[in-house]
Amino acid sequence: MIKFPKGFLFGSATAGHQIEGGNTASDWYRFEKIPGNITRNQSSEISADSWNKWREDLELLKKTRQNAYRFSIEWARVEPQKGKIDKKAIEHYRQILLELKQNKIKSMVTLFHFVLPDWVSRDGGFLNPKTTEYFVNYCTLMGKKLGDLVDLWVTINEPQSYALFAYVQGLWCPKKKNLYLGLKIGRILNKAHILVYKKLRTIVSNPVGIVENIAIFEPLFNNFADRLFTRIVNYLATIYFIAPVSKYIDFLGINYYYRVHLQHKKPIYHFLSRKKSDAGWGLYQKGLYKVIMENLFWRKPIYITENGLADEKDQKRPKFLSDAFFYTYKALKKGADVRGYFHWTLMDNFEWTSGYDLKFGLFDIKRQPRPSAQIYANLIKKYSRD
Ligand code: BGC
Repeated sequence: MIKFPKGFLFGSATAGHQIEGGNTASDWYRFEKIPGNITRNQSSEISADSWNKWREDLELLKKTRQNAYRFSIEWARVEPQKGKIDKKAIEHYRQILLELKQNKIKSMVTLFHFVLPDWVSRDGGFLNPKTTEYFVNYCTLMGKKLGDLVDLWVTINEPQSYALFAYVQGLWCPKKKNLYLGLKIGRILNKAHILVYKKLRTIVSNPVGIVENIAIFEPLFNNFADRLFTRIVNYLATIYFIAPVSKYIDFLGINYYYRVHLQHKKPIYHFLSRKKSDAGWGLYQKGLYKVIMENLFWRKPIYITENGLADEKDQKRPKFLSDAFFYTYKALKKGADVRGYFHWTLMDNFEWTSGYDLKFGLFDIKRQPRPSAQIYANLIKKYSRD
């Protein structure tokens, strides 16, 4: 019988700004108000209203047999103004954590998921050397206030995506288009991670890790130039980010979404896979097995912290989900120390510059299930040993 190890986490991942609604003190809230930044000028104003409806979210987890939940704390909620801590916001997150604990659902908490308090952003964001200090202070406070309840800590979500979209491609706040700045932000975030890691290690007893976006990069043509270009991109998007922090993590979180084919002449993504998500991303779940196996190199426990697809009609998600279990199991059988799988995402939400157009949820934004919600529950039942 196929079973995952005892204690394996089967969950969903979300992010505060994408589901809570009303994160008014954040830089994204300001950014969304500027016409042209978001598709059809949609905003996160209400989103899934999880700030008020988080109990319903936990019901969805329970209904689908999930034993883990990854969500983020919004720094802008906790410290809406410089040095002014909102105790009620901290209490709010404590309530969620308490309720998770009561329901025996493990928590994985992300401290930075792309969104800054606006006062930080206006002051230069992470390019301002003071920001790292403020970030460490905020994370330390979270460690002290929530450390008794959080099972797994994530310092930063996908430093490479933040660097790419906000500082290289100029799509996200603060809309810079500069490769050098992107690499610089990468270095700064890594340094911030290491400082937070060292600090949290003295405050909390549970594991602290980082989450990286790891794609499969392949050359479009099998010629020297494309192969070389692919290696460079893989280095810059993956190794450059993971290597410096690899000694300062208790686990590695992997977000895996797609395979891209690269061509040196036109340095753009080509999604060649026959099957594509609504976002046009090439679906290639075999890549999940590959990224797990390739990243055993770091000798750290691995969590798949995000894996999912935009599929409004839910036509491709069922197979995508069963493939996720198949390939994770295959890696486990080869001895990989994988400890959990978090699907992205629990319910439809504010998908950054695409607004609500891309639907990644097992449930829709009104929390109505897609068929995949039950399929996920059945897969968990089949594979879980607990
Ligand atoms: C991010 C999420 C995002 C998802 C789908 C991940 O890179 O962490 O915030 O919604 O991709 O685009």
